[in-house]
Amino acid sequence: MRIFYFDSDDKRRQLQTVYLENIIDEVEVEVASQMSGPLGALEKIERSAPFDLILVLAPAEGSVFELYQRAHLKHPRAPFVLMSDDSLSSFVGMDGFQVQHPKNDFVQLPITPMDFRETILKSLSPSYGLRVIPAFQKVRLIHFLRFSRALCNVYVKLSNNKYVKVINSGSIYDRADIEKYREKKVSHLFIRNDDFEHFQVTIHKTPFLTFQNETMSESDLQKCLGNSHAMLKEMILEIGFTAEVAAIAEKSVDEIIKLAYKKDDMCEMLKKMQTRLDYVYDHSFLTSIVCCEILQHMHWNTEDKIKKLVMAALLHDIKIENPQICKIDSSKDSRLQSFSDPEIKSFLAHPMETSLLLTGVDFISPEVVSIVLQHHETPEGDGFPNGLHHSKLSLLSCIFIVAHDFVQQNFEIDFDVDLQSKIFDNLSKRYSLGSFKSVIDAFSNLRSRGKDAVINKV
Ligand SMILES: [Fe+2]
Ligand SMILES: [Fe+2]
Repeated sequence: MRIFYFDSDDKRRQLQTVYLENIIDEVEVEVASQMSGPLGALEKIERSAPFDLILVLAPAEGSVFELYQRAHLKHPRAPFVLMSDDSLSSFVGMDGFQVQHPKNDFVQLPITPMDFRETILKSLSPSYGLRVIPAFQKVRLIHFLRFSRALCNVYVKLSNNKYVKVINSGSIYDRADIEKYREKKVSHLFIRNDDFEHFQVTIHKTPFLTFQNETMSESDLQKCLGNSHAMLKEMILEIGFTAEVAAIAEKSVDEIIKLAYKKDDMCEMLKKMQTRLDYVYDHSFLTSIVCCEILQHMHWNTEDKIKKLVMAALLHDIKIENPQICKIDSSKDSRLQSFSDPEIKSFLAHPMETSLLLTGVDFISPEVVSIVLQHHETPEGDGFPNGLHHSKLSLLSCIFIVAHDFVQQNFEIDFDVDLQSKIFDNLSKRYSLGSFKSVIDAFSNLRSRGKDAVINKV
């Protein structure tokens, strides 16, 4: 059973998606938050496999009719259910849509959860008539990252009638506890029906991230940043850029910049990197820190440039699923051969695909898009996706590439202090040309600054 659900209201969509996923077993809900764009409703309706129901919650606007026409053409067997605070007569072109399919329906909002459930079941009948509400309700993993303490007992489903408790009500958990289920291909955890109402009200009121940075310890702030990155990844890949995604990304950038300038704490922060597990986030975070350091030493550290580099660092590998392939920098790296063809293909495409995803997004500047596109280019001109000569790379991209290389090499040597000077020598040789020259000069300055330099803090 596949349901397409369009709703540009972030909170309502997240909540209703939880409802939808619990109305029927084995349902797949494809969501969209915008009409146009690569992850927009029009595109998804055009390209997706057949849907069994198309649900649109929208204010009266012209594009609803366009969406309806495309849906009717592409998925003629799927009922189209339109819900809105506005009356049906205010939707241009939608007057007769209810007679074009016996299950097409218009619902005037607001609507109670029970009526919502019945409307959906009615539109899916007879295959899905009124059903008994199950004893357990499923909730996507990502919703558990909103909290660090379990609001109720949490279960894993073993079979249709068998659930096992994995988190006790009131106990503290962290992202690693949740991520281990994702690694086992578990997409949802379960809570008892009695707890569901309270849980839904609470997730509706709880934003995905609350950085209480005044009262937070640095390690809690680090955890919070890691969680925010996981959420950004999941939300961007599924629905694109919404107001909530923008708020999480901008808040994360601000917090990383503050951390980068707390110099005493940075020492500890870098040391801890050896023992952390989430490579995609860890190397993105460290690249941000090193970019800030380089900018400072180039005396070019305007707030605007720092924010662009940190934003690019957060987002540049957001499409990479496998952290192991993320450790590879070059398309000629022999380690690539240990991955499957689709993984290699997707890896070689990620700078281009991510930059396309970011293009035209309100809060992402074109310079950020360009850094993301160019982050696997090289001073030798043999990088990917475009094999650009170094003279074609922006200075911000050059800073990013050097910082990223420094961080990757450090991971390879487990931040071994004795091997640091070798990395600096390698980088100095490799990047002493074109726009890279001023970057590497600043970096050398960093190396020779004694106790203040990154190398000595590690
Ligand atoms: Fe990367
Ligand atoms: Fe990358």
